[in-house]
Amino acid sequence: VLPIGIIGTGKYVPEKILTNADLEKMVETNDEWIVSRTGIRERHIAAPEQATSDLAYEAALKALESAGMDATELDLIVVATITPDTFFPSTACILQDKLGAKNAAAFDLSAACSGFVYSLASATSMLQMGLYKNALVIGADTLSRITDYTDRNTCVLFGDGAGAVIIGEVGEGRGFKSFDLGAEGSGGELLTMPAGGSRLPASAETLSNNQHYIRMGGREVFKFAVRVMGSATDEVLRKAGMTKDDIDILIPHQANIRIIQSAMNRLELSEDRVMINVDRYANTSAASIPLALVEAVEQGRIKEGDRVVMVGFGGGLTWGASVLVW
Ligand code: ACO
Repeated sequence: VLPIGIIGTGKYVPEKILTNADLEKMVETNDEWIVSRTGIRERHIAAPEQATSDLAYEAALKALESAGMDATELDLIVVATITPDTFFPSTACILQDKLGAKNAAAFDLSAACSGFVYSLASATSMLQMGLYKNALVIGADTLSRITDYTDRNTCVLFGDGAGAVIIGEVGEGRGFKSFDLGAEGSGGELLTMPAGGSRLPASAETLSNNQHYIRMGGREVFKFAVRVMGSATDEVLRKAGMTKDDIDILIPHQANIRIIQSAMNRLELSEDRVMINVDRYANTSAASIPLALVEAVEQGRIKEGDRVVMVGFGGGLTWGASVLVW
């Protein structure tokens, strides 16, 4: 198969920062609880006029620049998001127009926090079969728009942002080696925004019941996360013919420091082999893994030939992992 890898990266987070101290003024919580239970200290929040495509646009411009490409050269745009600007047109189409990427096909992909890895797997296979030469793959979410800032169980956990990569043909031996995607739809109720779809269209009643906000069974999701972070990593390494000793850097979904630590312990990875930025961005859903990946690149923590493992979990319930030789 054609070696397909990452040839450009970019990220964007909104300027406004919401700290734990700010949240202390909004709900009955405190910095000590949030830091000890989640590892989160602050998160970025979109300005009122910013929607998901605006965050994605800023990240995309940087990715294009780093790849040395013009938007008109893009063949495909995939946006992983659960907070699209609108149900339709897709955020990918809105972005295609903003970028002037007039030669690109465009679609959104919905797999919550696993969405970026799902999107990478989809776009990589399309490139490998020769359908397209390159693709812009973005994870972008504006979770602040669906977060109930009167619910302390959830509002401390989420932030906004976007991470983008451009994928295309790379040298022999490099690129994506394996993917492992999965779903456990039976756990759908554990992470959901109940209203606004065809099951429960928006109405005065759904609004007054707060059904347009994230609902989460935190403890159950925690257990699921610890389980699948382990099993998906094992599986994706096995498919690539590698073991945990081959990992140069792990890029885990940034939901909770304790979930990341349990993965580190299981894989016997020291902190220098794991990218952690949950303290500054909180959980940004589909943007979480690409924000961590791009930041690791910016910090010079990934060099050519490094074996990079990305692994995430999220609503659906879903999980996704990949092995990439940089
Ligand atoms: N401040 C203070 N107290 C709080 C807060 C808060 N912000 N939130 C909850 N509490 C209280 C609870 O009410 C509870 O009190 P009670 O015992 O009197 O009822 C107590 O703290 C302990 O609650 P637990 O649920 O036991 O806390 P836990 O240690 O499990 O941590 C947490 C909760 C952080 C939510 C954890 O379960 C978690 O991270 N789960 C995974 C969540 C996750 O990853 N979600 C995102 C998935 S990705 C996606 O698709 C968006």
